[in-house]
Amino acid sequence: MISSIALPREIRIGAGAIDQLPDVVIGLGSARPLLITDGFLASGGAPERLVQSLAAAGLDADYFDGTVPDPTTASLESGLRAVRDHGADLLIGFGGGSPMDTAKALALLAVRGGTMRDYKAPLRNDAPGLPVVAVPTTAGSGSEATQFTIITDSESDEKMLCIGRAFLPVAAIVDYELTLSMPARLTADTGIDALTHAVEAYVSRKNNAFSDDFCLRAISAIGGHLRRVYADGTDHDARSAMMQAALHAGIAFSNSSVALVHGMSRPIGAHFHLAHGLSNAMLFPAVTRFSLDSATQRYADCARALGCAAATDSDQRAAGLLVDELTRLSVELAVPTPELSGIAPQRWDELIPLMARQAIESGSPANNPRVPSVGEIEKLYSEIYR
Ligand SMILES: NC(=O)c1ccc[n+]([C@@H]2O[C@H](COP(=O)([O-])OP(=O)(O)OC[C@H]3O[C@@H](n4cnc5c(N)ncnc54)[C@H](O)[C@@H]3O)[C@@H](O)[C@H]2O)c1
Ligand SMILES: [Fe+2]
Repeated sequence: MISSIALPREIRIGAGAIDQLPDVVIGLGSARPLLITDGFLASGGAPERLVQSLAAAGLDADYFDGTVPDPTTASLESGLRAVRDHGADLLIGFGGGSPMDTAKALALLAVRGGTMRDYKAPLRNDAPGLPVVAVPTTAGSGSEATQFTIITDSESDEKMLCIGRAFLPVAAIVDYELTLSMPARLTADTGIDALTHAVEAYVSRKNNAFSDDFCLRAISAIGGHLRRVYADGTDHDARSAMMQAALHAGIAFSNSSVALVHGMSRPIGAHFHLAHGLSNAMLFPAVTRFSLDSATQRYADCARALGCAAATDSDQRAAGLLVDELTRLSVELAVPTPELSGIAPQRWDELIPLMARQAIESGSPANNPRVPSVGEIEKLYSEIYR
């Protein structure tokens, strides 16, 4: 079988790698970079300092801090103005998945025009936009190495998956020290997101030998470090391992795919504005239980990599242990049910048919080892509410 693999041209990884941002940007031939970030990170001063370091290297740099969590089509409008006003020739996505995804979307819109709805899956977008350098400050989305961006349509509240090489950063700077400031809740949510990427990429119908290796490495590292980093955010070894695992998981799912958890999670995030990793976590045990019999051996491999099953356990038993472990992890990382997160039962029930339809339309459920019907998705949404 031939797999088509796409990766950033360069990844600088390690403590202090952020100091090499000017070198990377100059190496890409940019003279007018624009850093894309959010207000919270800007209030800490890091974007300002990065712009100063770029200016000291002779570049005409500026930053835009108007991105929002789970970026929307409306939030891109001011970003696009900032890109045009600055005459930017390269964008730096600095932050979690949201600023990185915003930078990717702006990079395409600046060159190709139109709106993000014109570019949503199943359409592929391979022609390049402006070059993007991705600098993650969370250990989760893996967006620094993926050929995806996810933008919510402000009119319909649909979280649109957009696919293609156009969204693959040309370079990434992966410096775990940028994640030391993450509070425990964000650490847990983003860490579970990375675990979901790795497991879904491994069991996906699009799995391949190249991405498999990245999946298992990521799962194993997360199994060994997620609880540790949640308990102690100053644990450098655990932060470093989680950062690399998130990158590996991003490489894995970018070259395989995500599946039903992500397909069902995006509508929850869009309609109820829950953190992306949190809505994944709410679904992960139930969707895994639903899918288990269609890829028992693959789920068993995940369980062994995660460290919750032994090599001597049968595949059947190991796969079952994975569901137990995901359930336990949710409890230990204080993942609430939709009910406990304050969503009213009537509102949840009312939106189930629309969420199920949006999940199917995203295409991700079709990659699941057990491809669900609309009715089965609706049932899963009902099941996880409490
Ligand atoms: N493109 C992809 O391949 C891909 C993959 C997964 C998720 N996503 C998207 O990424 C988004 C979620 O990204 P995320 O979970 O990384 O969070 P985020 O970017 O939405 O950030 C969440 C919050 O954390 C803050 N934050 C970021 N870094 C911090 C740090 N070091 N210390 C303290 N606070 C910090 C931000 O300011 C923000 O308030 C969603 O929109 C999701 O759909 C994209
Ligand atoms: Fe994700």
